[in-house]
Amino acid sequence: VKKIAVMTSGGDSPGMNAAIRSVVRTCAYYRTECIGIYRGYQGMIEGDFVSLTARSVNNIINKGGTILKSARSQEFRTPEGRKKAHENLIEHKIDALVVIGGDGSFTGGVVFNKEYNFPIIGIPGTIDNDIYGTSHTLGYDTALNTAVEAIDKIRDTASSHNRLFFVEVMGRDAGFIALNAGVGAGAEEILIPEEDLGLERMLESLKKSRRTGKSSSIVVVAEGDRSGKNVYELANYVEENLPEYEVRVSVLGHMQRGGAPSCFDRVLASRLGVKAVELLLDGKTNLMVGLKDNEVASTDLEKAIKGGHEINRELLRVSDIMTT
Ligand code: F6P
Repeated sequence: VKKIAVMTSGGDSPGMNAAIRSVVRTCAYYRTECIGIYRGYQGMIEGDFVSLTARSVNNIINKGGTILKSARSQEFRTPEGRKKAHENLIEHKIDALVVIGGDGSFTGGVVFNKEYNFPIIGIPGTIDNDIYGTSHTLGYDTALNTAVEAIDKIRDTASSHNRLFFVEVMGRDAGFIALNAGVGAGAEEILIPEEDLGLERMLESLKKSRRTGKSSSIVVVAEGDRSGKNVYELANYVEENLPEYEVRVSVLGHMQRGGAPSCFDRVLASRLGVKAVELLLDGKTNLMVGLKDNEVASTDLEKAIKGGHEINRELLRVSDIMTT
């Protein structure tokens, strides 16, 4: 392996720049050429490449977003699109690829590898944390801290006005952000995609809060929660059933995807970037690098997508007890 390409793909996440920096510098360390691909698979199809040296990645470890930009490419889902992408890689004499992204990006990588036998290593970069084979994905820790900081601010105004707030956090298929930010910010109830806790239960809990003297409350809702109602419908439902509550909604949205990465995410990105390049130089392919028991470990790329994710049920119990 003489030339390695790196790209970021899918929804961006804080720490992607730190991972790019790590891949580029590890390549430089091992005297291997490094190419950046702009806009993920779309840039690969369009041949949007840039040569990266150790100095190209100065001063980016602390930056949110991704200097290589990101995209969700529809064209790469077609055999014609992948053929163009492959031709561009061959033309630029690229031998191997590091993909920084989430499950959609890894799925593209697995299909591409099956078709062209092209060496690929994945680095999990998504705020959702919904990837098998790693306790943490890049950006998750930062997004949690962003969400908690925002909910803390909402708590101030909720308390001043004796209001109930529904706060929607990201995660259309995964409740990691909702569950952890909910416990961290002291939410009354947490609604997640993995479990239908039932709307009756929420009403009961809110009634009890009022009875026991709470004047304001926060309910954290994951984008993809299982109640069948979106966050606005949930707010209406509570207002109709518990008229004693004055309810407001706050959707945190894409602010959770931006901002300077936390120290944890920077360190994780640095570790995973080194391992990704070393695996490729070692002739390995079709693996994802991740964190298991605080050690860097690799997982079969297809397993990383299909292995499923488990939320921590202990946290649901802790949250329950904390609402006493
Ligand atoms: O996968 C990351 C994520 O931020 C999800 O939490 C969210 O549902 C989705 O991406 C939003 O995607 P987009 O930025 O394309 O609107």
